[in-house]
Amino acid sequence: MTYIKMHKHIIAIANQKGGVGKTTTSVNLATATAAIGKKTLIIDLDPQGNASTGLGIDNYSRKIGAYEVIIGQSNAAVAIQHTIIPKLDIIPANVNLAAAEIELIDMSSREFLLKKILSDLGEFYEVIIIDCPPSLGLLTINALVAATGVIIPLQCEFFALEGLVHLMNTVNLIKKSYNPSLQIDGIVLTMMDKRNRLSLLVEADVRETFKDLVFKTTIPRNIRLSEAPSHGKPALIYDSKCLGSVSYMMLAREVLTKKNLLNDNERQNVKREKSVG
Ligand SMILES: Nc1ncnc2c1ncn2[C@@H]1O[C@H](COP(=O)(O)OP(=O)(O)OP(=O)(O)O)[C@@H](O)[C@H]1O
Ligand SMILES: [Mg+2]
Repeated sequence: MTYIKMHKHIIAIANQKGGVGKTTTSVNLATATAAIGKKTLIIDLDPQGNASTGLGIDNYSRKIGAYEVIIGQSNAAVAIQHTIIPKLDIIPANVNLAAAEIELIDMSSREFLLKKILSDLGEFYEVIIIDCPPSLGLLTINALVAATGVIIPLQCEFFALEGLVHLMNTVNLIKKSYNPSLQIDGIVLTMMDKRNRLSLLVEADVRETFKDLVFKTTIPRNIRLSEAPSHGKPALIYDSKCLGSVSYMMLAREVLTKKNLLNDNERQNVKREKSVG
């Protein structure tokens, strides 16, 4: 691979709460940024390997993944695979990654391993999306140290805010100690059901508390989003017209606009699509 210098935005998709939509957001946001024209890399940093499965990477072709790269057994360029989506590559995860949380404890500069790997990659990718595991262990810390921004998926349910303060504190601590330029790019409300009063109450509460930090785009509860992974495809490929796919496309435009990452051409396209939609 030849690497050319490009502006790079590295987004960790994190929330230590399980099942809130981290992987669904990682896979579909990455697919959407690639569809907009950004050369995108998704890093599956979860031993469950759901992002890898959702992008159709079978177990046999995951022998070299995030674990092997982080532990220094392999080179990132060897672990990177193309996906079925043009402009979207992946560093997959295999079960070995489960051991990393323990093995990393004894490694020097253990918080900086992923950052070092990504800087060695040069600036070939314009957007890098890291799907974090549901914990605030060393894997998530590596993601936050390597990232320029964090996106926090939040499920619209009663306990949504539980744990969020802890996550915000962790982000602030990492910002202070390891990564001063780290920003919270935003909170995205997932699995929204606009007919459900509780969903609307949670949305109002979160918007009141976190103001501009909450993305305008919300992700609806949508069956196509949950069906797509079993077909090894992002929803955006499985059913590009479903509400879930359309919402993730909108979220990608909102993220790229907020971070000032759209070039003139892409900005024009987004404007045109908005006026058609
Ligand atoms: N907007 C949605 N509509 C319907 N189902 C969804 C939606 N978002 C996610 N799901 C489903 O909810 C489950 C959890 O989602 P997902 O795997 O993305 O969460 P996660 O935060 O990555 O979970 P984990 O913490 O285990 O890694 C999955 O079965 C997924 O298909
Ligand atoms: Mg996940």
